[in-house]
Amino acid sequence: MTTALITGSTAGIGAAFARRLAADGHDLVLVARDAKRLREQATELHDRHGIEAEVLPADLSEDKGIETAADRLGDRKNPVDLLINNAGFGNKGRYLEVSMADELTMLKVHCEAVLRLTSAAAEAMRERGRGGVVNVASVAAFVPRGTYGASKAWVVQFTQGAARDLAGTGVRLMVLCPGFVRTEFHQRAGMGTDNIPGWMWLDADKLVAAALTDLARGKSLSIPDPRYKALMGLVKVTPRGLLGGVTSRTGRKYGPQ
Ligand SMILES: NC(=O)c1ccc[n+]([C@@H]2O[C@H](COP(=O)([O-])OP(=O)(O)OC[C@H]3O[C@@H](n4cnc5c(N)ncnc54)[C@H](OP(=O)(O)O)[C@@H]3O)[C@@H](O)[C@H]2O)c1
Repeated sequence: MTTALITGSTAGIGAAFARRLAADGHDLVLVARDAKRLREQATELHDRHGIEAEVLPADLSEDKGIETAADRLGDRKNPVDLLINNAGFGNKGRYLEVSMADELTMLKVHCEAVLRLTSAAAEAMRERGRGGVVNVASVAAFVPRGTYGASKAWVVQFTQGAARDLAGTGVRLMVLCPGFVRTEFHQRAGMGTDNIPGWMWLDADKLVAAALTDLARGKSLSIPDPRYKALMGLVKVTPRGLLGGVTSRTGRKYGPQ
């Protein structure tokens, strides 16, 4: 029996990872802020799949929360075999419309927490000679899109670099770059989604299935779905000025909603 720790497990993409990994027979460590929701999720996954689901309430925008999760990942007596660094959020508004406090919280959750949790997990995994880490970034990493895109670009660069550094140790690192997925993300951020065409939306369960296939194949970068693979190919050859004009509007509706 292997154990997976998922941050941001209670909603959206994290919940899809939890469902799929539980169905595959993995024990789980579930991390998010809402302890009641975590307990309900753990009970449901245990009852449905017969796996052990541990609850670890932690706010990854705070040092204490990051330390709680890092300590669990470093616990040599109860090893974690797979880490899914998924917790994240969006801020509504363009640069200078978002408060500095919110910008810094984003960097803490998307970058500092991912660095510290990946490192805690990877050290313990390297000692055992096996393990995996999936860091959830976004296709926004490849386009000019404020602090959100910049933080996700960091996740891509960091993960692919670390994957290379740990090659041959038995520790596998992969960065997952989803396109738009119907989750609580946009509603939580107060973002409108009316201007996002229907064909751009991905299903969280299919996304997770594709990501786990890519991880098993040893990929260090996963962009599930042919639509987004094609789009990212286009992005590579599109002038950045043009790209910025389109991407700064998509999914970032401003003003009263
Ligand atoms: N949805 C999309 O279109 C999309 C596209 C590309 C990439 N992504 C990325 O995918 C990841 C998951 O997003 P999602 O769409 O599934 O979002 P979601 O439905 O809003 O779920 C976010 C999860 O993260 C947890 N979380 C948020 N802030 C946290 C914090 N400070 N500490 C601990 N847990 C926290 C939430 O639980 P609590 O509130 O209880 O803490 C929740 O479980 C994010 O990294 C996001 O950037 C999403």
